[in-house]
Amino acid sequence: MALPYSQSALGMRSSEIRRIMKLAGDPSLISFAGGSPGTSLLPAEIVDGLYGGMSTQAKQVAMQYGATDGFPPLLAEIKKYLGSKNISLEGQELIVTTGAQQAINLVAKVFLDPGDVVVTEYPSFIGALAAFKSYGAETVGVAMDDGGIIIEDLLEMLDKMGKKAKILYLTPYFHNPAGIIYSAGRKRKLLDALGGRDIILLEDDPYGELYFDAADKELTAPMKAMPNHAVQICYAGSFAKIFSPGMRLGWLCAASEIIDKCQLAKQSMDACSPTFTQALAAERLSKGKMPAHVETLRAAYKRRAETMLKSLKEHMPSGVGWTTPKGGFYIWVTLPNRMDASEVFQKAFDGGAAFVVGCAFAPAGKKNDCLRLAFSNTPEEKIGLGIEIVANAVKAFIR
Ligand SMILES: Cc1ncc(COP(=O)(O)O)c(C=O)c1O
Repeated sequence: MALPYSQSALGMRSSEIRRIMKLAGDPSLISFAGGSPGTSLLPAEIVDGLYGGMSTQAKQVAMQYGATDGFPPLLAEIKKYLGSKNISLEGQELIVTTGAQQAINLVAKVFLDPGDVVVTEYPSFIGALAAFKSYGAETVGVAMDDGGIIIEDLLEMLDKMGKKAKILYLTPYFHNPAGIIYSAGRKRKLLDALGGRDIILLEDDPYGELYFDAADKELTAPMKAMPNHAVQICYAGSFAKIFSPGMRLGWLCAASEIIDKCQLAKQSMDACSPTFTQALAAERLSKGKMPAHVETLRAAYKRRAETMLKSLKEHMPSGVGWTTPKGGFYIWVTLPNRMDASEVFQKAFDGGAAFVVGCAFAPAGKKNDCLRLAFSNTPEEKIGLGIEIVANAVKAFIR
């Protein structure tokens, strides 16, 4: 019998994410594929202590269903955190989500009809592209430079498009996959340019806390916190990269009216995010221990990034370019002479290393002369060898 799939299921493509996660978990490979935090950096012992320290009653509350908008003590802690980032909650509300992925999905669900247009950076986060496409939206990409999305190109695209774009999706802080961070000037100019254009800005910020040097902290100030603009900003965050992705916790802060709709949408998805992990996260935050852990992460990821950059310099042939991240998990590599990243991938894979090919991050089209290297979950001592394997694969295609 032909199974009666929905149009949306029929439109789903074999997920690059599934392939990446599989590769990321293969112990025989040196994998720069998954965008996962370092496994050895996950604070397992801290979680033991948090749970052990809870009363029986608190544990039972944690094991119950919870409110759709989130576990109140966690909501209170996230509000405090947003306050520390100068995000005003006037006219705004907050919802805890099952990862930032669900925050993106909720925004897509409440705003998108089939055929609507979402503008993203080029390249852009695969999970967001998949979410937009699952509602039948068309995704179009705008190029970036080192300071963020190119505003002139964005405005030209918005002006010449036959339809009005509903959402602009951006990852301004330690971009996945490009590794860059927006300059302060670009953010201001962007908000000024978007004012009055009637487009929702979805500002996705799961990596902002992971700057390598304290001097760069101010670059991570969200657009959501900027004064004097007329842009409707939905701001998404996550505990995945600073605590644990397995907890599946993120949040969305947006106008109260939007959060109301998101609550309705979430009720039919999962009713509430796991109370269990929300309770643990709330405990952790209320004890004020998060900053010290994040500081450890910054130092560890900085060392991994530096090791990878050094190895790239040592092994890559001339003509290959790459970004130099100031934080986050990723380096974006541009291959010479329109080389095909899929061919390089196969060669590297045969040699024992993996990465993600650039076309996986393309909002539309199949340009494939770039690749993403994640340094986050590879021990420093393996990074050099892995990069040497990738570089040898690149050299094999230099004509
Ligand atoms: C840019 C971006 N947004 C959202 C997510 C999803 O995060 P979460 O694990 O909180 O769902 C990721 C995960 O890699 C990401 O890179």
